[in-house]
Amino acid sequence: MLINQLNQDLSLCAGQLGWPADRIAVTYSDRPDLCQFQCNAPFRLAKELHRPPMAIATELAEAFARKFNYAAAAPAAPGFLNFTVTDNALSRQLKEFNEDSRCGVEKTPAPRRIIIDYGGPNIAKPLHVGHLRSAVIGESLKRLARFLGHQVYGDVHLGDWGTQMGLVIAGLEERYDLSGYFGSSLPRPRFTLDDLNEIYPQASARAKTDEAFREKAQEITCRLQNREKGYYTLWQDVCEVSVSDIQKDYRKLDVEFDLWYGESTCDRYVDPMLQSMAEKGLTYESDGALVMDVNQPEDEKPMPPILLRKSNGARLYASTDLATLCQRQEEFAPDEVWYVVDARQALHLEQVFRCAKKSGIVPKETRLIHIPFGTVNGKDGKPFKTREGGTMKLKDLIAMISEAAEQLLSPGALTQDPQAPRKVGCAALKFGDLVCNRIKNYIFDLEKFIQFDGKTGSYLLYTLVRIRSLLAKAESDGTGIDPVITTQEERDVLMKLQLLATSYQQAYEEKLPNYICEAVYDLANAYNVFYGSCRILSEENQQKKNTWLALSRAVGEAMEQALFVLGIEPVPAM
Ligand code: ARG
Repeated sequence: MLINQLNQDLSLCAGQLGWPADRIAVTYSDRPDLCQFQCNAPFRLAKELHRPPMAIATELAEAFARKFNYAAAAPAAPGFLNFTVTDNALSRQLKEFNEDSRCGVEKTPAPRRIIIDYGGPNIAKPLHVGHLRSAVIGESLKRLARFLGHQVYGDVHLGDWGTQMGLVIAGLEERYDLSGYFGSSLPRPRFTLDDLNEIYPQASARAKTDEAFREKAQEITCRLQNREKGYYTLWQDVCEVSVSDIQKDYRKLDVEFDLWYGESTCDRYVDPMLQSMAEKGLTYESDGALVMDVNQPEDEKPMPPILLRKSNGARLYASTDLATLCQRQEEFAPDEVWYVVDARQALHLEQVFRCAKKSGIVPKETRLIHIPFGTVNGKDGKPFKTREGGTMKLKDLIAMISEAAEQLLSPGALTQDPQAPRKVGCAALKFGDLVCNRIKNYIFDLEKFIQFDGKTGSYLLYTLVRIRSLLAKAESDGTGIDPVITTQEERDVLMKLQLLATSYQQAYEEKLPNYICEAVYDLANAYNVFYGSCRILSEENQQKKNTWLALSRAVGEAMEQALFVLGIEPVPAM
C-alpha cells in the first residue's frame, strides 16, 4: 500500500536528517483537491527542534526528493507536507490490488480470541425490531474481526431462563390442561408458536397489575430453575417451538451464530460462583438479597451494588451474565468479550464487568466491552411501531422491505435469483442501520433505504451488478493486465480503493462499521463518475480498455469484500 511506503520512506528521511523518525505519520489528505497524502509531523518536530515548521517541512521534502521519485513532496504553509504520487505508482498500486485476494487489507499479526454476545432474544417472543440492531451490528463486527484474522465466536445468548419463562408457563396453564406434564395420563397439549406469541405479551401485561398472577409466575420460575420435572419438560417444549422460529428469522437476515447457548446453559455455574464470591468475603445480604459492592475509588457518582440473588433464590439477570462469563472462561478463555447490547443496559453491564474482575471470574487483562447502540425510530422520532401502534415483528419488517425491493427489481433479476427481493431488502435494512454511527438513534425510512440512487445498500448492490455485468461482457476479467493510469477519474477511484482498505482497521478499533459504509459508498460514487466518463466496451485503444477493466475488477472485488463484512449478500442482477 502506498501509504505504508510513504510512511516508511519519510521516516527514513527524517532519520537521515538526525530527527526522531518514529512518529512520522503520513495520512490520506484532508484536502484531496490539493494532494493525495499529507504529513503533519513538521508541527510536532518544530516544537522538539525549536525551528519553524515550514523549514522542517521544506527540508523533509528536499530529502524525500533526493531519494525517491514515485511521489512529489511539497511543503505548504504553515508547515504541512503534501504528497502527490505519480501515475506510475498508482498503476502499480492497482496491479497489486488485483493480485491480492484481500484487496490490500492485512491480517493482524496478533490474533485475539473474541466472543461476541449479540443476540439476546427472549424465548417465546418472536424477534422484533428491537432485535434488529444487535443482530446487524454484531454480525458485521463478527465478520470484520474474523476478516482481520481474529478468532471469533458469535453467541446468541438466548433469554431462556429468566422470569419471562415463568410468565409464559403461567399463561399456558390458564389456557390448557397441562396435567399431562405432571404425572397424569392425559395427552399433553400441542401449543404452537402463535399461541406463545399471544400468551407472552398478555401474561407480561397482566403481571404488572395482577399480584397473584405475578407471584404464581415467580414461583414457577423458581421451580423451573430447580429443574422440577414437569416444568422442566414443559420448558423444553416451549424452547423447541420458539428456537426454531428464532433461527428461521436470523437466517432470513443472513445472521449466523456459532454458539446457540442460552441463559440456561450456564446455570450450573451460578451456585459455585456465588459460593466462591462469599468465601472471598465479597458478598453480603441486603434486604434479604445477596449483593456485592462494585464501586471504585475514582467513581464520582457511586454505583449501586450488584444484585446477585433474590430472597427466594431465583436467578437474576446479573448472576446469569456472570455465570455465562464463568462458562466462557472455562470453555474459551477469551481475550475479549464484546456485548452488542442496547445502550440502555450500560449500567447493568458495567456492574457485571466490575464484579467479574473483582471476583476473579475473568483475568484482569480480559477486555469486557459493551458496544452500545441507539434505537430504531419511526418518522415521528419515537420507537418504530406498526401502523396499529404495536411492535413490529422482524419477519414482518423483512417481508415489508422485500416487497418494496421487489417492486423496484427488473423481472430478470427475479428469474436469475428468486431470493433477490429478500437480499436487496436486507441490504437496504442493514446498510441503513450500519451507515449511521451506532450510538445514535436512527429513523427507519423504508422509501429512502430502498432507493437505487442515494446512500443506500441498493445503490451499492446496483453498482456491483453493473461492474459484474461489464466484466462478463468484456473478453477479459481484468486480471493479468498492466494498467496505465492517466486520468483524474481513474486516480480518484484508486484513492478511494486505498481508503476503503484502510477503513477496516479503523472500524475494528472503534467498533464502528460506519467507517466501512462511508468508504465503500465513496468508492461506488467515484467508480460511477469514472464509468460515466468513458465507454469501456467500445474503447479501441487496448491499453486504455485494459486499464479500465483492471480498475473495474479491483473495485468489484473490493466492494464485494466490504459488503460481505457488512453482512450484505450480492445479487446477480437488479
Ligand atoms: N435477553 C436480554 C433482554 O431481552 C438481552 C441480553 C443481552 N445480552 C447480555 N449478555 N446481557 O433484555
